[in-house]
This record gives sequence, structure tokens and C-alpha cells, in this order.
Amino acid sequence: MPSINRRTLLALGLLAATPVTARLDEPTSWAELSANENPWGPGPLAREAIRATIAEGGRYGMGALRALTQSLATDEQVEAKHLAIGSGSGELLHMAALRWARTGRVVCASPTYNQLIAYARKLGATIDAVPLNRELAHDLPAMATKIDSSVGLVYICNPNNPTGTVVNAKALADFCRTHAKSSCVVVDEAYIDLIEPGTTESMSALAATTPNIVVLRTFSKTHGLAGLRVGYAIGHPETINELKSLQMAFPNTLGLEAARASLQDEVFLSDCRRKIQSARQQLQSHCQTLGFDPSDSHGNFIFVRTGLTHSQVASHMAEHRIRVGRPFAPREDYCRISVGTETETTRLLHAFTDLKQKS
Ligand SMILES: Cc1ncc(COP(=O)(O)O)c(C=O)c1O
Repeated sequence: MPSINRRTLLALGLLAATPVTARLDEPTSWAELSANENPWGPGPLAREAIRATIAEGGRYGMGALRALTQSLATDEQVEAKHLAIGSGSGELLHMAALRWARTGRVVCASPTYNQLIAYARKLGATIDAVPLNRELAHDLPAMATKIDSSVGLVYICNPNNPTGTVVNAKALADFCRTHAKSSCVVVDEAYIDLIEPGTTESMSALAATTPNIVVLRTFSKTHGLAGLRVGYAIGHPETINELKSLQMAFPNTLGLEAARASLQDEVFLSDCRRKIQSARQQLQSHCQTLGFDPSDSHGNFIFVRTGLTHSQVASHMAEHRIRVGRPFAPREDYCRISVGTETETTRLLHAFTDLKQKS
């Protein structure tokens, strides 16, 4: 019988539904828990859309862009003019920095997601990074004291990466309203659909009606489309036009169609959410029981203080074939680890127990 290789299996569609990191029974396989991806994605409807769209790859995706914009407008209850679609929310972060960070200072939390900040720094911006508060959440009152007319952009990541903490919705809405009068406030909501209900709210409705507030979302997390590069911005039409004028790349057709299909895949999305929230809870409780100190994370990752340096924890996890997030200065005694498959969670729970015994 001829041997069946991976390419043949892929052609037969037999590997298509296999989670990227599911082959953990191989002793050499790694649990890739460093980049907050979704190990189950893309979902079934997105996979089907990708297969059905391959032939369109020879054409520019204007129709696909219009179709996704329309679906998002329906979902978000806004008109198309309130939306910009980018090649990942990363592209939109760069566009926002180009538009609002070049000419003034940038105020953000520390630590927070670094993509906009690093890019703004390269553009010549001065960064005012305000330490998180005792709960490892954005300190909005302290940030407010740094904002004056010299600030071009304020970056809020809610839930925050790497801590996963959220800010109170009313306090954030007041903050946005006040500071959008003099700067652009970018609210990055990459993980907003993974929060525990009632803990915070999206700023999308406020952004749609108020100039100078931009809400960013991504298909890279719950939708499991990180490699297909689709994200979007919600804002006032004038603000969205300014952002769009700096777009660098036309989004790719397979990603656009996969994202549109994924929006309909409520079974897949709610299953992912349930699994992520349950594993997150299990990991945080386990860490607490061991005497480690996890932040109150609402993302698809945990952020844990172990009392050891990041490199000690990373080497220990590597012995268990687990890859963890990078260090986040100045919180170098913490480690960020993404939520993976059930098998990976079991491995991680065991690795934490083992770490406790060794330390
Ligand atoms: C808070 C936050 N924003 C934005 C991104 C970028 O996502 P993407 O460019 O894949 O949409 C990430 C990725 O990890 C993130 O954690």
C-alpha cells in the first residue's frame, strides 16, 4: 500500500479539522502558548469559506471587503462608514500611530501591548508609560494627569495584554469623552469577547458617535484567524476616513471571506469562549492554590507572579515542552502564558505543580 504523506492528507481534507497543536502525544511536540492564539481555529465555517474562495485568489478582493464591511456593520449596528478593515488589528495600530502619534506625545499603560508604542517610538514620538495600579489594571486617574495638548494619542488596551485586567466601563467612557477633545483615544479590544460578563464594556457605540475615539478588534483571537490577518476599527466617519487614508495594504481575500463566515459560526465561537474561560479559571485557581499570584485575567492567557525570574520560569516550562510569552518589563517576576487545548492545559497545570515543588 502506498504511504500517505501529510500533503496527501491535506488534499483529502483529513487534517483540516485538526487543532494546530493537538499532536501532543509526540514527546517532542511543543505547546505553543506564547502568542495568545486560538489552537482550534479557524472554525468549520471559516475553513469552508477558505476552500470555496481559493479560486478568487487571482483577483483583488474589493467585493469581499465590501461584503465583510456589510456583515460587520450589521453585527456592530453601525453604518459601513464607521468601519475600517485592516490586515490584522496590527496594521490599524500602525495606521493610528502614523496619524496621531507622529506629532505629539503618546500616553499608555506599562506594561501593555507594545505594537503601537514600538512603532510610534520609531516614528519619533515620546512615550509616557504610566504604571498599572496595584490590581495590575490601567490607572486612568494617573494617566489623565499626563494628558495635555501635547499628547497626540492615548492607548488603552481593554482587557490589557499582558495582564488581562479590565477597566470599569463608566470610568473608561468618561475618560474617552474627556480626552478625545484634545487627543485621539485608541481602545484596543482584542480580547473583549472573552471577558467575564459584567466586568467591562466595549466602547464601540461611543466611538461611533464621538470623533477621535477608535475601537480596534481582531479576528486573530476567538475567531482563530491569526494567520489570515483581519482586524477592524470602529469610529466616527471623520476619524475612520483619516485612519483609512494611511492604509498600507489591501486586506487578503481568503482572510476577508474566512472572517465573514466566522461571524456566523456561533457554535464554534461559543465553544471556544467556553473552553478558554474554563481553562483560564482552572489555571488561575491552580496557581492561587500553589501560592503563585495570577492577575485577574479576562483574555485567552494568564499572567502569573511566581517569585522566580522570567527566564527561570521559561526554562522550567521549556523542560515541559511549553513555550511561554516574552518578559514584560518592569514585571519581570511574572510570566504570561496563553490558554491552549485541554491537553496543553493539563500539561501546564502539571508544570506549575512541578515548579512549586522545585522552588
Ligand atoms: C492587545 C492586542 N492588540 C492587537 C493585537 C494584534 O493582533 P492582530 O494584528 O493579529 O489582529 C494583539 C495580538 O496579540 C493584541 O494582543
